[in-house]
Amino acid sequence: MTDAIQSPQQELAQRFQQAVAKAFGPEHAGMDPLVRRSDRADLQANLAMSLGKALKKPPREVAQALLSALDAADLCEKLEIAGPGFINVTLKNEYLNGLLTRTLGDERLGVPTSPEPQTVVVDYASPNVAKEMHVGHLRPCVIGDCLVRVLAFAGHRVIRQNHIGDWGTPFGMLIEHLLDLGGADQASELSLGELDAFYKAARKKFDSDETFAERARQRVVSLQGGDEPTLGLWRVLVEASTQNFQKIFARLGVTMQPQDTRGESFYNVFLPEIAHDLQSRGIAQVQEGALCVFPPGFKNREGEPLPVIVRKSDGGFGYAATDLAALRFRAQELRGDRLLYVVGSPQAQHFAMVFAAARLAGYVGEHVRTEHVGFGSVLGQDRKMMKTRSGDTLRLLELLDEGKERALAELNERADLPAEDRVALAVSLSLAAIKYTDLSSDRIKDYVFDWDRMLAAEGNTGPYLQYAQARQCSMLRKLEPGEVIDPAAIRIQHDREHTLALLLLGFGAAVTDVEASLEPHKLCSYLYELASAFSSFYQECPVLKAGTAESRASRVALTELTRRVLVQGMQLLGIDAPARM
Ligand code: ARG
Repeated sequence: MTDAIQSPQQELAQRFQQAVAKAFGPEHAGMDPLVRRSDRADLQANLAMSLGKALKKPPREVAQALLSALDAADLCEKLEIAGPGFINVTLKNEYLNGLLTRTLGDERLGVPTSPEPQTVVVDYASPNVAKEMHVGHLRPCVIGDCLVRVLAFAGHRVIRQNHIGDWGTPFGMLIEHLLDLGGADQASELSLGELDAFYKAARKKFDSDETFAERARQRVVSLQGGDEPTLGLWRVLVEASTQNFQKIFARLGVTMQPQDTRGESFYNVFLPEIAHDLQSRGIAQVQEGALCVFPPGFKNREGEPLPVIVRKSDGGFGYAATDLAALRFRAQELRGDRLLYVVGSPQAQHFAMVFAAARLAGYVGEHVRTEHVGFGSVLGQDRKMMKTRSGDTLRLLELLDEGKERALAELNERADLPAEDRVALAVSLSLAAIKYTDLSSDRIKDYVFDWDRMLAAEGNTGPYLQYAQARQCSMLRKLEPGEVIDPAAIRIQHDREHTLALLLLGFGAAVTDVEASLEPHKLCSYLYELASAFSSFYQECPVLKAGTAESRASRVALTELTRRVLVQGMQLLGIDAPARM
């Protein structure tokens, strides 16, 4: 794109590259000038150290030569060499003014679209049929949904895949139980959230009633044999579960749609052929009756090679075989360039091994990136897996209900709000609290669920961002009739404005960072820093009571830009931004 907005960091990096070429010859111009944020100045360029090493010259001398060659008077207010050869840069307000004006006029707020748009297949949520979604499904939903939003905003073609567990031996007992209850007509209730009870009842009968267990086993055989009445009952169960999942997605504001569901059963037809293919090409071998691929580098504690089991010794196919078929499908049929799996860290080894096996088999081309986006667990206050009081796994629905109740209790004193607005706000606040806590924690680590901390209106929380944004909305509602927001009015003067400006111009980098690293907490930190910088700015720099019309117009425009960046940033996190709170 010709008119993409260059961030100060990018602009300065280019100028330094030119300076390197000028001072030391074009052969060094390709090096990364290492322009970073700095706590001493606006930015610092750290290239003099590595350049010094390459040229065998003292870094400070190199830095001095760079400054003499640097043509950046239009950007920089001050350039200083510090320590061993850091170059500290303070940017000119006039330069920032121009950039801020363009950013406010830009629909994308300065976020670049990827120069190489890809097809990214994202496997996330992926619950199991006939079981209710529980607290363990929170992270794959929330993290996965943030990533698809960021990737799509960055210009990629995103294909969501809800790889539900809709096949396997439990369906024998589930179908028999359904028949005992009176058949397909009973299933409509299941979508209302009785799935767990249904599953447990079936399990109990299976464990205690031998004739039932035998019927269930026969039913598995019919199911696998493609018996049409059996498949019909199976479909009823899958459909009921899918509706139940879809309700939870809707409540969570997760963008997964029914048409994104492609469950394990979808891959059944491919499995015998995959087994044949792998065996005939010598990629898989039979060991103790099972057909296995041994991807190089995977060993157990005894040093023996670990298998990816393609076909079990009883002739059945399992989880790994299905994932091999899914990898092939995603690379070859969906034409994914990047295949992401947002699944908990305990499955890290499984994914590493099926990725390696799929590559070995040539199912996934070399240019295709496969990534397991793992994450830690959600823990209760006791640092153990979250449970209900009775010791059961906590259903996601119960968790969402509790969040809503707690948020509502905090809004108790808000006599200014009609009851239904209070409920809507409680829903919004509690979702923001839950999602933000999840996304702002380092993905790989566990985190402890603490309602009070999560729902707090102050501190690094979702509600804090929402309130900050709503306060900006309320300021902007107070503009005079006819007073317009003019992007060209921006004139940075005060230090706090300068700090805010730098952050506003860093939104693109924050988004691009998540696109590359798949770490949403980077966007969270950025937004929190931005909201805090706005509040510091606002304390020192009155907006509506600014001393002059010029400074009012400038600050109004800065307020609007901050608001828009916050709204867009929260949208990427999947958090809504109410205009009134
Ligand atoms: N249903 C699985 C589970 O609950 C997650 C599926 C993840 N995706 C995959 N392609 N294996 O553990």
